[in-house]
Amino acid sequence: MFPWLRFYTYSKGPSMNLLHLDSSILGGNSVSRTVSAAIVAQLKKTHPGLKETYRDLAANPVPHLSGGYLAALQSTEGQHEASLQADLALGGKVLEEFIAADILVIGLGLYNFTVPSQLKAWIDRIAIAGKTFRYTEKGPEGLMGGKRVILAIARGGFYGPGMPAAPYEHGETYLRAVFGFLGIANPEVILAEGIAIGPEQREKSIKAALEQAAGLPLAA
Ligand SMILES: Cc1cc2nc3c(=O)[nH]c(=O)nc-3n(C[C@H](O)[C@H](O)[C@H](O)COP(=O)(O)O)c2cc1C
Repeated sequence: MFPWLRFYTYSKGPSMNLLHLDSSILGGNSVSRTVSAAIVAQLKKTHPGLKETYRDLAANPVPHLSGGYLAALQSTEGQHEASLQADLALGGKVLEEFIAADILVIGLGLYNFTVPSQLKAWIDRIAIAGKTFRYTEKGPEGLMGGKRVILAIARGGFYGPGMPAAPYEHGETYLRAVFGFLGIANPEVILAEGIAIGPEQREKSIKAALEQAAGLPLAA
């Protein structure tokens, strides 16, 4: 390699892909959107050259899985009706974005004890046997190890260890299970809790979450 080319390559640093997802339905009032944006801003500061792909799952929802979609995925037939063709193209793009991502930042609120259904619809597109996990003789194996996942989670109440509502928390626990299944063992979580308790608690929790976002380390 020419010495000048080596210098250029090293000084630029390796290019990294960031996939930023939001799923809150509350638009400008959303806490998780505020926190996920702060996380991305912090990462961009510490990783110059980060290539961001943004997907707003509430504004542009990924449709629910259909039987036709699943059948088409398994068939070798190339011809499908236009709506299925479009759905296959979108599903393929969503999966490609996930596989290409080095870092994922996902904003979500806890809705009825779990993740927004818009985020669940996205998960249904990326948990694909043979692509992001595989079945082996020893059981399922995740193929997505090495990605950094940061979750910005807003919750109306408190669900930490020892809280009466803790057993009802199926958002963070669900995402830990899904990403763990795909080979991503330790997602980082920035929580803003007690958002529905009152304005003071809301402000305090958002401030603490934003401080945590601003202090995110360069690497996990
Ligand atoms: C449809 C809906 C369902 C909710 N369900 C819960 C819930 O089960 N538990 C809870 O603690 N908070 C619940 N909340 C409160 C949200 O978790 C809280 O408002 C949080 O800020 C939502 O995140 P977001 O602001 O990014 O949308 C719910 C809010 C909405 C809009």
